Amino acid sequence: MLEPIVEVEGLTKVFKSLKAVNKVSFSIYSGEILGLLGPNGAGKTTIMHMLLGLTTPNEGEVKIFGRPLAKHRKEIIQEANFSSNYVSMPNSLTVKECLKVFARLYQVKNKEQKITELLKIFEIDDIRNKLVRHLSSGQQTRLNLAKSLINDPKILFLDEPTASLDPDIADKTRRLLQLIKKKSNISILYTSHNMKEMEEMSDRIIFLHKGNIIAEGRPADVIKRFKRKDLEEVFLKVAREERY
Ligand SMILES: Nc1ncnc2c1ncn2[C@@H]1O[C@H](COP(=O)(O)OP(=O)(O)O)[C@@H](O)[C@H]1O
Ligand SMILES: [Mg+2]
Repeated sequence: MLEPIVEVEGLTKVFKSLKAVNKVSFSIYSGEILGLLGPNGAGKTTIMHMLLGLTTPNEGEVKIFGRPLAKHRKEIIQEANFSSNYVSMPNSLTVKECLKVFARLYQVKNKEQKITELLKIFEIDDIRNKLVRHLSSGQQTRLNLAKSLINDPKILFLDEPTASLDPDIADKTRRLLQLIKKKSNISILYTSHNMKEMEEMSDRIIFLHKGNIIAEGRPADVIKRFKRKDLEEVFLKVAREERY
């Protein structure tokens, strides 16, 4: 039996009269990449925020590493990390200073070595002394990704990690995440609007629409169930049909 790293049960978030997330339940297993997909406003980011303890659910429970997040957030967060374009880095620091701050926050051992490694991996070594506020959006994303791996997390939450990357760096990022997964048995929850990427990267996917899970499983099985040729077609069918 695979070990569940994240267990979500009946998670609900209401914003005024809008049910952004409606009784959502799922697990993320050890060493698994789980893709969360769905149209804009489906509730993906809200779920990520609840899993990080940044948003409090109205109902439901989140367990990470077998412990309730609400009670054990501080310890859990030390072994988790995330990357999102919506969270900006300290603007007045340089790329390297930024990574140093996070290395300290996460009490990383061998800080210098880890930072050097990440700067190289994400090809931001040449801009290590640049101020964060002078970075292009693709460079910011790469810094965000580097930061998300600084503590060798056991669970990684990535909200649209490749959205602002050029095809070359996006491709490298995908390969890198797959390599890290193979080497370290990390679990990853991530979102993307690139359906080819979803198919290629995800061991399993969860299809979210208006706060509800409408399909779940291996990409190939979901495609089969919807009688479509690929995930892109499944997405278009769901997004355009009234009954969903
Ligand atoms: N802080 C907030 N206050 C009010 N509504 C919000 C807030 N955050 C998200 N929403 C709404 O919740 C729904 C889900 O948003 P979100 O989780 O960002 O979707 P996704 O990431 O799938 O595009 C949207 O309708 C959005 O407008
Ligand atoms: Mg989002």
